[in-house]
Amino acid sequence: MAPARKKPHELRSHLWFGVKDLRAFGHRSRTLQMGYAREDFAGKPVIAIINTWSDINPCHAHFRVRAEEVKRGVWQAGGFPLEMPAISLAEPFQKPSTMLYRNLLAMETEELLRSYPVDGAVLMGGCDKTTPALIMGALSMNLPAIYVPAGPMLRGNWHGEPLGSGSDSWKYWAELRAGTIDEKEWQEVEEGIARSYGHCMTMGTASTMTSVAESLGLTLPGAASIPAPDANHARMATASGRRIVGMVWEDLKPSDLLTGAAFDNAITVIHALSGSTNAIIHLIAMAGRAGVALSLGRFDELARVTPVLANIRPAGDKYLMEDFYYAGGLRALLANLKENLHVDCMTVNGSTLGQNIEGARTYDEDVIRPRANPVSSSGGLAVLRGNLAPDGAVIKPAAAEARLLKHTGPAVVFRDYNDMAARIDNEALAVDENSVLVLQSAGPLGGPGMPEWGQLPIPKKLLKKGVRDMVRISDARMSGTSYGACVLHVAPESHVGGPLALVRDGDMIELDVAARKIEIKVSPAELERRRGEWKQPDMPYGRGYGALYAKHITQANHGCDFDFLHYGPATPDPEIH
Ligand code: FES
Repeated sequence: MAPARKKPHELRSHLWFGVKDLRAFGHRSRTLQMGYAREDFAGKPVIAIINTWSDINPCHAHFRVRAEEVKRGVWQAGGFPLEMPAISLAEPFQKPSTMLYRNLLAMETEELLRSYPVDGAVLMGGCDKTTPALIMGALSMNLPAIYVPAGPMLRGNWHGEPLGSGSDSWKYWAELRAGTIDEKEWQEVEEGIARSYGHCMTMGTASTMTSVAESLGLTLPGAASIPAPDANHARMATASGRRIVGMVWEDLKPSDLLTGAAFDNAITVIHALSGSTNAIIHLIAMAGRAGVALSLGRFDELARVTPVLANIRPAGDKYLMEDFYYAGGLRALLANLKENLHVDCMTVNGSTLGQNIEGARTYDEDVIRPRANPVSSSGGLAVLRGNLAPDGAVIKPAAAEARLLKHTGPAVVFRDYNDMAARIDNEALAVDENSVLVLQSAGPLGGPGMPEWGQLPIPKKLLKKGVRDMVRISDARMSGTSYGACVLHVAPESHVGGPLALVRDGDMIELDVAARKIEIKVSPAELERRRGEWKQPDMPYGRGYGALYAKHITQANHGCDFDFLHYGPATPDPEIH
């Protein structure tokens, strides 16, 4: 049965353009002022193209051109496209952390859609936080919306060897510090690691979150895997522009797609990709906007039954997103994962997830593994609990040296990032390969903005001995391109007095991933005594966005959204006077 179709006078934009009053006269005359003819917009769905292009965002450098390609599709389908720029969260440049601003972009997206005559939205993002932010905002506004992912950049190249975003930065930085490569070689790596526009091409946060968007049904099938410079990417952008017009007429909204089952699909895909730990925070925040109950525990339940099928770095041993695309892309992975998925979930193209993956084939079974030969049979991510993290912590076991997944060692504590930077390479630091490195004051409030400091550097003197992984614990996040036995997102964070704040040098800490345990071997009485001595560090913000952030940010296990942005009664549309 064909979906019901709206009438032009039922469009939201009709209230701005279609009525007979002085205000509508103003809206029409000012649209005509821009050179549009009456027939360009009269009775047509207005499509906002929320574009996170910026001169400072290399991952979105192609978005000016892509926005034009989206517009072409909107025009073809009988819509009226209007590009609306929104803040670009450029991971390499924005400080102290793009995470501080994820909720700002989400608010901007929501309010752009609410305050203007918009019927549907094309969301253009890809660099880490832009994907969750755009989706969170669109979810709260709940107008028809389709996601256009930026696409991964081409693989890096150095002396004929592929280089992976982030992962090889950490790797060769460690080699430089260990003295195994020289400054000239380091500069060559710098010149070869990012060769085109597009987001990071490892299975970092960007690739994970765009795959999440597709798994949630928010992109056209196959969209998330297309490399940014590929001509197929431009065609996908235009096709998305065409499709959003149909979605408006059908009134197909995010709330029709983002059900509990769709979130389960997204979590399953994160595990099968051995995706970024950041995705856990973002998915909980997105579910919070959708009114879907989602706890850390659900990630662990699904991790235990989901095989890792994507052999992509950093969890995989050699492949990158370009290889993943040529091997069949996300559709092929979804097809291999079919029995773990709710295939009846609806998607933006009006078909179910199951219909969208029909006929998908894998062209390289070393890159996208069949179920019979997974990268690992379970455990892309694991959720830990214990007296050090009563509200949970996470680890990516597949990216850690296996010997460290069950480990007890003495803590070496850094009270904040500067303390760590000042002492980590000091020859006098009392540390060996069995030590557990602990970083405090790196959480949502302590960072602030929960920066990606969770992959603490290995002390130089241990690097020289050949040590490349150690247990590291913090309330920070970690780049999805990072690797190592890093326990992250410890909640509650140290800044609010979580047990992490009470750890002292020499305390024995036990990590047992199989038992999902993270414990500090200190008596409750001693921890209470230390709590009595503990003083909360100051927050740097007395005013502005930072002060708003400090007042309303939630902890990692609640998704780090602002408390006042969670799902609630619908915000009314503005009155048009
Ligand atoms: Fe933009 Fe990695 S820096 S996705």
